[in-house]
Amino acid sequence: MKTSVLGEIGERRFLREYWQRKPLLIRQALPGFQSPLTPDELAGLALEEEVESRLVLERGRKGPWELRNGPFTAEDFAKLPKTRWSLLVQAVDQWVPEVHALRAHFDFLPAWRFDDLMISYAPDQGGVGPHFDHYDVFLLQATGRRRWRIGPACTDATPVRTDTSLRILEHFETLEEFVLEPGDMLYIPPGVSHWGIAEGECMTFSIGFRAPSHAEILVDIANGAAQRLDEGLRYMDPPLGSDVQEGEIPPAALRRVQRVLQEMAADSELVREWFGRYMTQRKYADLDITPEALPDDLRAWLRAGGVLERHPASRFAWSGAEAPFMLFVDGEALPCDDPALARLLCSRAPLDARALKPALARQPGRALLEELVARGALYCAD
Ligand code: SIN
Ligand code: CO
Repeated sequence: MKTSVLGEIGERRFLREYWQRKPLLIRQALPGFQSPLTPDELAGLALEEEVESRLVLERGRKGPWELRNGPFTAEDFAKLPKTRWSLLVQAVDQWVPEVHALRAHFDFLPAWRFDDLMISYAPDQGGVGPHFDHYDVFLLQATGRRRWRIGPACTDATPVRTDTSLRILEHFETLEEFVLEPGDMLYIPPGVSHWGIAEGECMTFSIGFRAPSHAEILVDIANGAAQRLDEGLRYMDPPLGSDVQEGEIPPAALRRVQRVLQEMAADSELVREWFGRYMTQRKYADLDITPEALPDDLRAWLRAGGVLERHPASRFAWSGAEAPFMLFVDGEALPCDDPALARLLCSRAPLDARALKPALARQPGRALLEELVARGALYCAD
C-alpha cells in the first residue's frame, strides 16, 4: 500500500483543518526520499529552449533580487556567485518520468487542481526571498537542508519592495521557523508569506495547484458567453413611468442589467464547460505534443500488447452530475457518451486492451481513443 505523504494527520483531517487554511509541517512525509534528479541534471533542463526556468540573485548585477529568465547557457551558470542565488525550473513533471510519478502522492486532491512540480536548486543562503503565492503549494525538501520561515497571510495590498521586479515583501515577520531535511514537507496555503533559505546547497520540489482568480473567471466566462449571444439582444427599459426623475437611473433599470448577468451565471452548462476547459488547459498549450506517426489500426495494436500512456503534459477531467456527460481533455470538451471510459481515462489505471475492451467494442469509443492519440493526449508506448 502507498503510504500517505500526510503522515499522522491523515487525508480527512488535512482536508478539513489545513487545506487552504493553515500551514502544516510534515516531518518525513516521504521517508528516505532520494531526489530522482541531480543539480547538474536540473541545470541541464534549464539549458533547453522549451523548458521554463529562472534565476533569482539576491545581490544581482542590476540590483537586489534580480530575476533572469532562461534558457541559460553553461557560461551563465559558470559566472554565478558562490552563494545567495537560486535556479527554478518549472513543470519538471512534464520532462522527467520519475518526477511525474511523485504526483500520485497527491491523489487526495483533484488532479485537475494540480498545476506543476517546480524544482529549485540553491547554493548556501540561496532562495527567492520573502514572498507569498496565490496558489497552494507543498514544499518537499529533496536534498540538503533549507530553513523555512512562515509569516502572516498577505494580500495584494501588502507592501512589496519597489527596487526589484519580483514581488518581494518589504517587511517579513517570522511567526514560525523550521529547518527541513530530505523527505520533510511543508504545506503553505495561498497568501501565507514564506521565506526559504538554503543551509548549504539544497534542492526543493514545489508541488503547486492552480486556481483561477475571480477576475479570470468573470472575464473568461463572459468572453465565451458573449460569442454565443445575438447582437440584437439588448438592454430593454423597464416600464417607464412619470415617477422617474430627470437624469435618474432608476433601480428597475439596474435590475434589468443584473438579470443579464444572472442569466449567464445561471447557465450551468456554460459554467461547467468553461470550468472543465479552463482547468484542463495544458500549462504550455503552445508546445506541440502531436505524434509524428500513428498505428494504422489502434485496436489491433492494443490487442497485440500495446499500452496507451497519458501524455505527462495532458490534463483530463470529467463531469457527470448533470446531463450531458462531459469529458474534458487539454482545454477541450469532447463528446463522450461512455462515463466508464471517461473515468478510466481520468484515472491512473493502465490503458491496455483489457481495460479498453468495452470502449473498443463501440465505434464512438474507438473514435474517441483515436482522436486522443492523434492529439497526443494519449501516446502509444512501445
Ligand atoms: C523555492 O523553492 O525556493 C521557492 C518555492 C516557493 O517559495 O514557493
Ligand atoms: Co512561494
